Amino acid sequence: VTAEKGGYDHFMLKEIYEQPKAIRDTMAGRVKDGQVDLSREIGLSEDQINKIERIHIVACGTAYHAGLVGKYVIEDLVRIPVETDIASEYRYRNPIITPNTLVVVISQSGETADTLAALREAKKAGARVLAITNVVGSSVAREADDVIITWAGPEIAVASTKAYTSQLIAIYLLGAYFARIRGTRAENELAHIVTALQQLPEKADQVLSDTTSIQEFAQEIARHEDLFFLGRGLDYAVALEGSLKLKEITYIHSEAYAAGELKHGTLALIEEGVPVISLATQEAIYDKMVSNIIEVKARGARVLGLALEGDQELHKSVDRVFTIPKTLPLLTPVLAVIPLQLIAYYACVSRGYDVDKPRNLAKSVTVE
Ligand code: G6P
Repeated sequence: VTAEKGGYDHFMLKEIYEQPKAIRDTMAGRVKDGQVDLSREIGLSEDQINKIERIHIVACGTAYHAGLVGKYVIEDLVRIPVETDIASEYRYRNPIITPNTLVVVISQSGETADTLAALREAKKAGARVLAITNVVGSSVAREADDVIITWAGPEIAVASTKAYTSQLIAIYLLGAYFARIRGTRAENELAHIVTALQQLPEKADQVLSDTTSIQEFAQEIARHEDLFFLGRGLDYAVALEGSLKLKEITYIHSEAYAAGELKHGTLALIEEGVPVISLATQEAIYDKMVSNIIEVKARGARVLGLALEGDQELHKSVDRVFTIPKTLPLLTPVLAVIPLQLIAYYACVSRGYDVDKPRNLAKSVTVE
């Protein structure tokens, strides 16, 4: 059994460490001469791409969290309005779907019942459906009009890790491809994004190379029953995913909040010793984030700050800092999620729970 796990104690840890490869494999063959080219895989013509008026991203669980990043990324790069929705909500809410709506469904397994039903609803309403999935030949892959496969390889652990980061890569590729065709970003800017994407596997390796301080923090939080994640912008989307990972496998009650929303309720829950994981990787809103951190610190929270390498500020206002290598702000989620996956993993191990098979959860939910 350990052989199957490649020498790791659990599939989840193995899959976390496979992320640099999964990122590289998902990019392979899709970048030519410094440009993203998806024309061999997706049948949308340039004309059809130019006509897209809105995009709906629909998914469940971790894939939904990738979709939240997708909203930021595609709106920023392509300037098309994007709505990200939970599949079980979307399928029952009579969404506005026009012939020029592109529906993007994201599903690791390609078999999630709600996601598949949402795909069918969207097709019935006349939308074109593009699927991002990890399984060639899955139901979602077969029924969608266009498919981008994430080449993460089989994911065994119930808590999704490498599928998420690969889904992010697929989204960046899609965004850069659409931006080139629609001319919403200059060629040199897009080339810059491609270069930064190509550097991600190496940077992910760097994050994984020394996790001592993450392990220590994880052991500390394993004793708690409540925890908060804070972030703004893309960091908020990543905070939601970090919080889900923690809940899934450690059974610690955890909530992720958009840091600016703190004072509208959550701040009432912050008291002496409550662990707070604060993401501060987004330069444009860094100062705002630091003031939120100071607010929770003042109420006695025990704060882990996640910052970019070279950060000189954060250690003044938090108890512990973990840094990730610098990349473009848009790409930071790929690196920022890794320490959060590791926190969930090590806290679970420390609590003695079954990492790969958490209670009540299934890898793929094929019934409603
Ligand atoms: C289940 C899994 C999650 C996963 C979600 C969506 O709840 O436990 O890890 O994110 O389904 O799965 P999918 O295969 O559609 O990405």
